[in-house]
This record gives sequence, structure tokens and C-alpha cells, in this order.
Amino acid sequence: MCYDCANPSGRAETATSRRSFARFLAAGAGLTVLAACTPGAPGAAPSSGFASASASPSLSPSPTTTAEATTAAPARPEPSPTPSPSSALPRQFSLTDPSSPWVVVNKHRPLVPADYVPANLVPTAVATTVSGEAAMLNSPTAAAAEAMFAAAARDGVAMVLASGYRSYGTQVVTYNGYVASRGQADADTASARPGYSEHQTGWAFDIADGGGVCSFQPCFADQPAAVWAKANGHKFGFVVRYPWMLHPITGYYYEPWHLRYIGVETATDMVTRGINTLEEYFGVEAAPGYP
Ligand code: DAL
Ligand code: ZN
Repeated sequence: MCYDCANPSGRAETATSRRSFARFLAAGAGLTVLAACTPGAPGAAPSSGFASASASPSLSPSPTTTAEATTAAPARPEPSPTPSPSSALPRQFSLTDPSSPWVVVNKHRPLVPADYVPANLVPTAVATTVSGEAAMLNSPTAAAAEAMFAAAARDGVAMVLASGYRSYGTQVVTYNGYVASRGQADADTASARPGYSEHQTGWAFDIADGGGVCSFQPCFADQPAAVWAKANGHKFGFVVRYPWMLHPITGYYYEPWHLRYIGVETATDMVTRGINTLEEYFGVEAAPGYP
């Protein structure tokens, strides 16, 4: 398995870290049904150096959400690995409102309210291995996912929705399953605690390829669906939310299957500028662990 070739950041890593990571994930084999991560939608883009005031109307993202506009500078310090922005987009959406395509949810930034339920959940018209709420996303994310899955199919790449929206109650069951299997410390590197998961926003989802062998496993990074999504997801507004070796920032190990919708302009800007995490891009603090 080639983890290095799945590393978009090109950051150095040690054989030890790869072995540790593989051991960690191997310990999770069989937890597919407890997949900690879940789904997202289409949108807009920012950067760790928002051009705070002078918003450019031409950069306005999809207005279909109820996201709040703001011109305030980021209130929290940037994490240490922050790149130098070269073409910051104006800040257009809230980083805290869970209905905003720019909401940043991590171990330092819980959903408010904790039992938030998106008002615009819809079934997602794509191939899926799940049903019920897990096959739903908020409407902008569902539309973007449908476009992306269709494009992947045109390129001959099989892609299925493996986990979409998760309610607070579902996340309780999911997280508790991880804790029971691995203990809390390991669980916290793979599954968000209830009230801390992007899946609850409807802006994020997990993909698989329908084959199942590598679903939610490290080898998924080398499967066509993951390779294609990493290379093309931004064209539809998606980013791989938990990149390789950036767990000190995101709080989670590599999840090549977990895609987050932030909007086409934003996702494209992140790729163009080589910024791999929302924490760095939006200039909010790294969240390796719960406070
Ligand atoms: N696996 C991601 C972190 C989640 O549980 O939302
Ligand atoms: Zn996920």
C-alpha cells in the first residue's frame, strides 16, 4: 500500500508513523458499520487570510444556504503550519453557524446547538450502501454530490455514498461503539464525540467504491474512487477533510473517504494555494484534542 502517494501535502513522514497508523487502522477493521465519519454539499471559499473587508461580489458562493455573512477578522489565532495566503478570498460565511458551508467543526468547535438538525435534509440521488438518514445530506451538499458522482461515473470510476447525515443520537451510538472496541483514546482519533461531528451538519459524507474490501480502511486511499475524489472533488466544492498526517491539526487520522462541502470557489482556492485543512485555511486554531 502506498501511503506516500496518497499524501497530497508531500509532508515528510517516518516509517514508524506509517506503521503506527496502519496498526491503529487495522485495529479498526470490522468497524465499517461504525464508520465515524459521514457527508456534505456545494459552495463557496475562504482562506486563512480572509480579505476581511472588501468583499468581492463576483466571489459570492451559492446563496441557497442560510449562511450568515460576516466581515470580522478571524477571532482565533492561526495554527503554526499556516501557509502564507497569496490570494485570500473575502470572508463570506459564518464559521460557527452549522447551516453555513464554512462552518468549522472540530474538537474545539462543537456544534451549537449540540442537537442541531439541518432544516434542509434531502435524500441523495446517488448509488449508496445505506438508507434512511444516512442517505441524506443537506440540499446544497446533495446537489453537489450528485454532480460529482455523475462525473466520476463518466470517468469510469465507481463511487457510492457510504455514510451521510448522522443525527446526534446516531453519533452517540457510533462513538460509543468505537469506545467499546478501542477505548476512548483511540476512539477519539477516528470518531467524533456526539455534538462534534461534521456528519451532523449535512455538509459531509463518506464515500466507498461499492467493492467493500477497502471501505473505511487505509487501502481506500489507493482505490480509484479516493484517488479521483482527491483530484477532482474541489471542482464540485469538496475537500478531503482529514488529510494524511495532519491529525495534529484536524484531530483525526487520515480519512480519504470523508469529503466535506465548502463550495467550489473555496475548495478550488484551497487546492490552488496548497492549504489542506479548514483550520489553516480559515485561520482557526488547531484542534488535536478536546479541551
Ligand atoms: N470520523 C469523523 C471525524 C466523524 O466522526 O465525524
Ligand atoms: Zn465521515
